[in-house]
Amino acid sequence: MSQRIRKAVFPVAGLGTRFLPATKTVPKEMLPIIDKPLIQYAVDEAVEAGCDTLIFVTNRYKHAVADYFDKAYELEQKLEQAGKLEQLELVRNVLPSHVRAVFVTQAEALGLGHAVLCAKPIVGNEPFAVLLPDDLIWNRGPGALKQMADAAESSGASVIAVQDVPRDQTGSYGIVATETFSGREGRISAIVEKPSPETAPSTLAVVGRYVLSARIFDLLESTTPGAGGEIQLTDAIAALLAEHPVHAYRFRGTRFDCGTHIGLIEATIRYALDHEKLSDAAQQLMQNALKELGVTELE
Ligand code: G1P
Repeated sequence: MSQRIRKAVFPVAGLGTRFLPATKTVPKEMLPIIDKPLIQYAVDEAVEAGCDTLIFVTNRYKHAVADYFDKAYELEQKLEQAGKLEQLELVRNVLPSHVRAVFVTQAEALGLGHAVLCAKPIVGNEPFAVLLPDDLIWNRGPGALKQMADAAESSGASVIAVQDVPRDQTGSYGIVATETFSGREGRISAIVEKPSPETAPSTLAVVGRYVLSARIFDLLESTTPGAGGEIQLTDAIAALLAEHPVHAYRFRGTRFDCGTHIGLIEATIRYALDHEKLSDAAQQLMQNALKELGVTELE
């Protein structure tokens, strides 16, 4: 599989119930960190990694994601007439011109594995990426997917992003067992979806970035419902291990779990503190807020 990935799959059909009532009308992937929706961060990462075909697996209620990536003629015209060229660029650059977006509907919410399988007709027989936009990965250098795509290209293996988590959290993740790591990579020997802390083979958790061989589609077709009664991508990867090397990859960067309230807050704080124009003001107001609430004494 030493072919470069060109296609990226974004499963965005989830209901986002954790963020109700906001997600009653706004898909969770459209929740912003500063001024960009979560989905845009994932798209930028995929484009940076070299992908030019983005496949969004969506449901019939999620028009907002498709609308967002559609061309906004009227808005562009108004911004152009008003001479607001900076804003015009922002609106135009949600998708660079060499990149195309394809939308596929997942008719029933049968799980992440099923969502990925819905992209099969568009991906075809080539290695591809999967990005879960809930997992926002911040890095000053190359993005996580670019790091992984480079690693996959040189090793020929499928590559899955991982990070260490506290043992009491294994039940929220896919967990891998690996052979000894060489640098950032270690061959996966076992993978299990959401094991309890007592049965988890390690505390190395799968983060939502995957570079996968197209063989995964055949395996997904014969995957039966697993954890939570859903067709799990993890279970198909477990089957892939027997026939193809799959590497765990410790990426450079910080991952924020924007599928949770606290993760979304954490990401907002980090991006604000790292923001060219907002950093000073954000620092000041955080200090003020902590002082006013008597949370802590800051030096
Ligand atoms: C999914 C995957 C899980 C992975 C996680 C990363 O779970 O099934 O293996 O560790 O994403 O965010 P979810 O968070 O959708 O339940």
